[in-house]
Amino acid sequence: MRVAMIGAGYVGLVSGACFADFGHEVCCVDKEPAKIEALNRGAIPIFEPGLDDLVAKNVREDRLTFTTDLAQAVKSAQAVFIAVGTPSRRGDGHADLSYVYQAARDIAAAMDGYTVVVTKSTVPVGTGDEVERIIRETRPEAEFAVVSNPEFLREGAAIADFKRPDRIVVGTEDERAKDVMTELYRPLYLNQSPLLSMSRRTAELTKYAANAFLATKITFINEIADLCEQVGANVQDVARGIGLDNRIGAKFLHAGPGYGGSCFPKDTLALIKTAQDHEAPMRIVETVAAVNSQRKRAMGRKVIAACGGSVRGKTVAVLGLTFKPNTDDMRDAPSIDVITALQDAGARVKAYDPEGMEAARSVLTDVAYARDAYDCARGADALVLVTEWDTFRALDLSRLKATLAAPVVVDLRNVYRPEEMRRHGFTYVSIGQPL
Ligand code: UGA
Repeated sequence: MRVAMIGAGYVGLVSGACFADFGHEVCCVDKEPAKIEALNRGAIPIFEPGLDDLVAKNVREDRLTFTTDLAQAVKSAQAVFIAVGTPSRRGDGHADLSYVYQAARDIAAAMDGYTVVVTKSTVPVGTGDEVERIIRETRPEAEFAVVSNPEFLREGAAIADFKRPDRIVVGTEDERAKDVMTELYRPLYLNQSPLLSMSRRTAELTKYAANAFLATKITFINEIADLCEQVGANVQDVARGIGLDNRIGAKFLHAGPGYGGSCFPKDTLALIKTAQDHEAPMRIVETVAAVNSQRKRAMGRKVIAACGGSVRGKTVAVLGLTFKPNTDDMRDAPSIDVITALQDAGARVKAYDPEGMEAARSVLTDVAYARDAYDCARGADALVLVTEWDTFRALDLSRLKATLAAPVVVDLRNVYRPEEMRRHGFTYVSIGQPL
């Protein structure tokens, strides 16, 4: 099949490379010439494990190309994916759909023959209807269908998530479009990944419901962690104790500093807005979003308490800046709130992150960046682990202790074992575990 992928950002690039790897002919389109130029040189603009090799292989085998020429790519495609950004609109929290609608207009002008237009971007319920209206208005005679096919990719594990999905959601009532989508995902279908067919609006809502539910699960265990701290219980054991119940499930029950990233914060807000507009308020999700924002700020206070109530004039070393490991993404990262709170309280902050320091420079000020974890810890009055990169799991604890000015470790991801930390002589504070 010939596929055009509009938007060579995170979702477009991963999906385009994976479809090409399935044997389809994929052309990724982006309006930024510098990005396309870089991709054509083999440079991948984002950090995603395995993506560079996957792109290189499919480019070499002539199944994956990059262009700024949308019309050319769309003209010959049977399926055109819209994978452009849908940022939060400033001021009201609604998703900003201007890029999606512009893509719809451009696609309409260029398409030739029966074309399936697929929204991959996370878009509010009803966006597919509007995309259809725009295309119909531009090209009244065109033969096409608009399908919702939301993605469920996690940054850092996106290729595996694409190739071994729990399910594929396809929202359309057009039989011909269903056939095209089935053909596109056929390699997965043969692997028994269920392809769920539903209405377009239902598919759009399914994506938001999934992210809101996962955000709720995380927030729930985070609040249980706070209660554990008050009553002397252990959240790791509670998570295991409830997670082995199949009705609950063990995943996304890892207590931490609050969820961040480009999806959960934005998508929960957009769902809250849609629900309010339709007079069906999602009070649980409203609370989740508020509790999570407060939590990120509260983590700074937790560090200050671990430092004896004040960090004024002290140096705090922060390990991990990105919103989670295996990405260079700083969007809504809890580290931003933690570091800002520490700076506001008079601390000097040193930080190290394996991939995120470049992005961090544009969102954080007055941070000294280190070469590695030990360099970061050198002379610091406390060390805070904010993001659980694998390299931080196996630190030499004796060396770490000798490097720090004071042996205080605040572990916001429960990476270390409390007994071991105590044995090494650290003052160790974690999330929801007895002191
Ligand atoms: C999330 C979803 O997991 C994907 O299914 C979805 O496709 C994607 O959003 C999207 O809408 O595009 P992502 O934001 O990449 O993916 O990352 P997650 O692994 O879900 O983590 C989100 C945040 O929750 C991170 O800050 C992470 O540290 C936190 N988290 C996750 C926890 O604090 N505890 C957990 O148990 C799990």
